[in-house]
Amino acid sequence: MEQAGLRDAAALVGRARRVVVFTGAGMSAESGVPTFRDALTGLWRRFDPQALATPEAFEDDPALVWGWYESRRRAVLSARPNAGHAAVAAIEARVPGSVVVTQNVDDLHERAGSAAPVHLHGSLFAPRCSACARPAPLPDDPTDGGPVDSRPLHGGPADGSPADSRPLPGGPADGQPVDGGSVDGPAGDGRVPPPECARCGAPVRPGVVWFGEALPEAALEAAVDAASSCDLLLTVGTSGVVYPAAEIPRVAARFGAPVIQVNPQETPLDEVCDVNLRGPAARVLPALVEAAWGVPRVS
Ligand code: OAD
Repeated sequence: MEQAGLRDAAALVGRARRVVVFTGAGMSAESGVPTFRDALTGLWRRFDPQALATPEAFEDDPALVWGWYESRRRAVLSARPNAGHAAVAAIEARVPGSVVVTQNVDDLHERAGSAAPVHLHGSLFAPRCSACARPAPLPDDPTDGGPVDSRPLHGGPADGSPADSRPLPGGPADGQPVDGGSVDGPAGDGRVPPPECARCGAPVRPGVVWFGEALPEAALEAAVDAASSCDLLLTVGTSGVVYPAAEIPRVAARFGAPVIQVNPQETPLDEVCDVNLRGPAARVLPALVEAAWGVPRVS
């Protein structure tokens, strides 16, 4: 990571009053949660999203899809927030007008102390009925409907808003290689029949957004509002290829906010970034917090 870039980024962070931190799978990579598109380790390099992350897949084989998301949820339960998540929470604490907008379906921002991250792609912890949308309890905890927004996913913001609720491109048809190999869960635990809805008996589904589905209306609206009124956007660990989420940094840039990117690799978002910090989130973000405020590194 270049020192001049870090200094420039720290100056922007230090004087900001409303920061949007926009995160993707790279944010949780150092917690051991795999990304989607990284070579070798990315989920969509090893699993076929058509068979696991579409409404049709759930209709065809609900036990396969439910089992795969359950194994991902269990992997997240055994993961811990990393120093990058802690640094994001430190930015929120220092800059109270800040908002975390995440594409991640894990709960690592919450566990690191972020107050109310906006989950654009839903949550592994908010299952709901596939027919009547009633929130369902998590399998381990029959009394708990999940800590994160469990509203049904439907609709989108009014036409003409900067980001709309088109079906997500960037999935199976986004040109990313997909091997279509084994569909056993990452933990090897395979098919698990989904529970039945207590009200209507239909299968319960994971509370995530699948390819071909609209984003949660309230979350998308909150993200667009935050991006269009912030004075700095920090994009961390996202490839920036899945829309409409990838519009969020572009919205901030269009409204005149500087954009800082934290990512070891180049991405299509480079073109809207004022500062690129090429490195892993768990190293770069604590260094940025320290450079901005001179506080000891969070770890
Ligand atoms: P991707 O897997 O597409 O991209 C992860 C990004 O993180 C890449 O640009 C990596 O270079 C970067 N990265 C890897 N390790 C990192 C680290 N330690 N620190 C910082 N960056 C790192 O993941 P997303 O962009 O989140 O959607 O993917 C977007 C959406 O595509 C996901 O929300 C998911 C997926 O299909 C749905 O499931 C709807």
